[in-house]
Amino acid sequence: MPVATIDWTGELPGTARLIDQTLLPGETKFLELADVESMWEAIRVLRVRGAPAIGIAAAFGLLLGIQRFAGSDRAAFAAEVKRVADYLRTARPTAVNLFWALERMERRAAADAARSVTEQKAGLLAEARAIHAEDRAICRAIGRHGAVLIDDGSVLLTHCNAGGLATADYGTALAPMFTAHEQGRRFKVFADETRPLLQGARLTAWELQQAGIDVTLICDDMAAVALRDRGVTCVIVGADRIAANGDTANKIGTYGVAVLARHHRVPFYVAAPTSTFDRRIADGRAIPIEERAASEITHGFGRATAPAAIATWNPAFDVTPHDLIAGIITEHGILERPDTRRVADFFAHHDPHRGGTP
Ligand code: MRU
Repeated sequence: MPVATIDWTGELPGTARLIDQTLLPGETKFLELADVESMWEAIRVLRVRGAPAIGIAAAFGLLLGIQRFAGSDRAAFAAEVKRVADYLRTARPTAVNLFWALERMERRAAADAARSVTEQKAGLLAEARAIHAEDRAICRAIGRHGAVLIDDGSVLLTHCNAGGLATADYGTALAPMFTAHEQGRRFKVFADETRPLLQGARLTAWELQQAGIDVTLICDDMAAVALRDRGVTCVIVGADRIAANGDTANKIGTYGVAVLARHHRVPFYVAAPTSTFDRRIADGRAIPIEERAASEITHGFGRATAPAAIATWNPAFDVTPHDLIAGIITEHGILERPDTRRVADFFAHHDPHRGGTP
């Protein structure tokens, strides 16, 4: 079993327990967060990260924000739910799961609006727990659907971390790997280190190594030669937001890997739950891309690696155009060669807001 990324402890009032991913792999430290400000900070500085985990964190964050609301005034409680949700929405802009989870929590509050405040709080706790539990089932389903892409002797390449640490369970991009490994297949994985915050080196390499999967860490700029000379058969990455035409935002560098994969005729797959689709956005140009502090580039992990006052640009994500994507592995199956029509057809059969498990 992968490490428990995030969980809710107790009832209401309770705490959110999460592993501090900024310290991995050197230190395994769990935090017990008791207030919404700590959760906002944990999301912002990537103590908890990865799109599905951010969604769960936001749902738990909402609980932290409303759990000490005193009194029985329903209108005041509704205003408080909105205030806390709006605050959490400012933590990070790109992963749509954060907004998806908060909308789902707000819908639950609205549906329970005629009930007492105590009952509404209990409803929100149940909804947050459901989001968490469903993500586990979704990871397993993505694993089952994606494992067909992995044969004995396959050589995979992945970028960033879309593993257990980024979700409630098996991950998205790594789920097919964990599943194929459990099914007894032998294959190899190249993990891009993923500059500037090294999620690939610190988290993906760590997770796969712990699972006993044959993983080789490479610097991001080695992906081209790995694709050409090391027999890579398939690329699988995660996603932070997928537009209605299949354009996919993921960790910075993903677009480059997709271009390289196309050049080397290696299929490039995205693995993501349907909650990562944002069909209100027609294409990738409208996906908000987070820009992070210059210090992540100039002072990686504390040491100056660039001249003082150098100009920098530090987008945390990029968008891979849909025509470079062979398929999107979801909990409902693989959406092949995504485009606007195929995404719409897929969603006509699979409604992500129905709140069920695959
Ligand atoms: O900045 P991060 O570490 O939150 O970025 C994470 C990624 O880009 C992941 O690939 C994505 O969220 C999918 S996680 C299943």
